[in-house]
Amino acid sequence: MSDLEQLERDVLARVAAAGDEAALEAVRVEALGKKGSISEALKTLGSMSPAERKTKGPLLNGMRDRVTTAIAERKTALAGAALDEKLQTERVDVTLPIRPEPQGRIHPVTQVLDEATAIFADMGFAIAEGPEIEFDEYNFTKLNIPPEHPARQMHDTFYLKPKPDGTRHLLRTHTSPVQVRTMMSQKPPIRIIVPGRVYRMDSDQTHTPMFHQIEGLVIDETSHLGHLKWILEEFCRAFFEVPSVEMRFRPSHFPFTEPSAEVDIRCDRSGGEVKFGQGNDWLEILGCGMVHPKVIEMCNLDPAKYQGFAWGMGLDRLAMLKYGAPDLRAFFDADMRWLKHYGFLALDVPTLAGGLSR
Ligand code: DAH
Repeated sequence: MSDLEQLERDVLARVAAAGDEAALEAVRVEALGKKGSISEALKTLGSMSPAERKTKGPLLNGMRDRVTTAIAERKTALAGAALDEKLQTERVDVTLPIRPEPQGRIHPVTQVLDEATAIFADMGFAIAEGPEIEFDEYNFTKLNIPPEHPARQMHDTFYLKPKPDGTRHLLRTHTSPVQVRTMMSQKPPIRIIVPGRVYRMDSDQTHTPMFHQIEGLVIDETSHLGHLKWILEEFCRAFFEVPSVEMRFRPSHFPFTEPSAEVDIRCDRSGGEVKFGQGNDWLEILGCGMVHPKVIEMCNLDPAKYQGFAWGMGLDRLAMLKYGAPDLRAFFDADMRWLKHYGFLALDVPTLAGGLSR
C-alpha cells in the first residue's frame, strides 16, 4: 500500500472515530488545516515534474475530496445524534395530568370593596380605618346620638361586659365612628372613605349579624350637597358600569346629618335580574347628608368654619345587587361551591382603566 493510501486510511479512520463535533474539528485541522497532513502532501505537487504531477495530482485531489466529504458526512451524523439525545432527555410526557386550576376565589364582598376603593381613590379619597370594638361614645354619643336616644335601640347593638366605671365597649354598629376618630385626629380638609365590618343583632335573608359598610366623609370650608350629589352619581355610574344612572334623593333622618337623605337608584327587576338605568323600580343603596354642626363641634372642630358631608352604604348589599346573589347569609357560609360560582379570579384586579368587573 502506498504512503498516500495509508495516510487516507488513517485520516478516514480518525474521522469515523471522532465522538463529537470538537474531536472531528481537531481531525479536520490535522488533515486539511494549513499545516495538515493532506495539505502538506498537496504542497509537494509544486515541485514535481509535469509527468509526475499528471498522475499524482488526481490522486491527491481525489484524496482531499474524499476526506472532505467524509468529514462533512460525519459532521451531519454527529449533529443528528446530538439532537436525538437532546430530544430524548427533554421528552415531554403528554400522558401526565394537567396542572389543576387554582381553587381559590376572591369573595364578592372583597371584589366590591376593591371596585369601590378604585373609584373613590380615583376621585382623590384616602382610606381610613378604625377598630371594630368601639367606645359607646364614638359609635353613638359624638355622632349626636345621646344615651336615651331611640336610635340606639334601632341599631340592635352587641355590647361587651360593663367595665367597673359602668361604661361598655361595643361592636361598632356602623363605620360612622371613624368619622369621629378622623375629625378628632386630623385637620381639614378631610376626604376619606372607610370600608369595614360592622355588627348588629339581626339575621334573615337580607341581614347578617356581621356585614360591611363603606363610609365617606368630606370636611372643609366650602363643600356642599351639590358636591355630594356629583360624587354619588359618579360612583354609581362607575360602579354599576352603565352610561348613566338615575338617582332619587329622598328626605330622611339621621342624628348625625342635617339635612339627611336616602338615595335610591332606578332599576328594572322584572326579568328576574336587576338592570340599572332603566325600569320603574327604585332600590335604596345608601344614607347621606351634611354633617351635623353638633357632630363637628363634638369632634373639636369649629362648625362656624368647617362644614361637609358624609354617606354610608352597605357593601354586601351592593355586591348582591351587582352580582345577583339572592341570599346574604350565603355570603358568610364559606361554601366552596357558592364561592366558585360567585367569586372572582385572583388576578382580575379591578381598575378603572382596565375595567372593574370584566
Ligand atoms: N351610619 C348609617 C347606618 O349605618 C349610614 C349613614 C347614613 C352614614 C348617613 C352616614 C350618613 O355617614 O351621613 O345606617
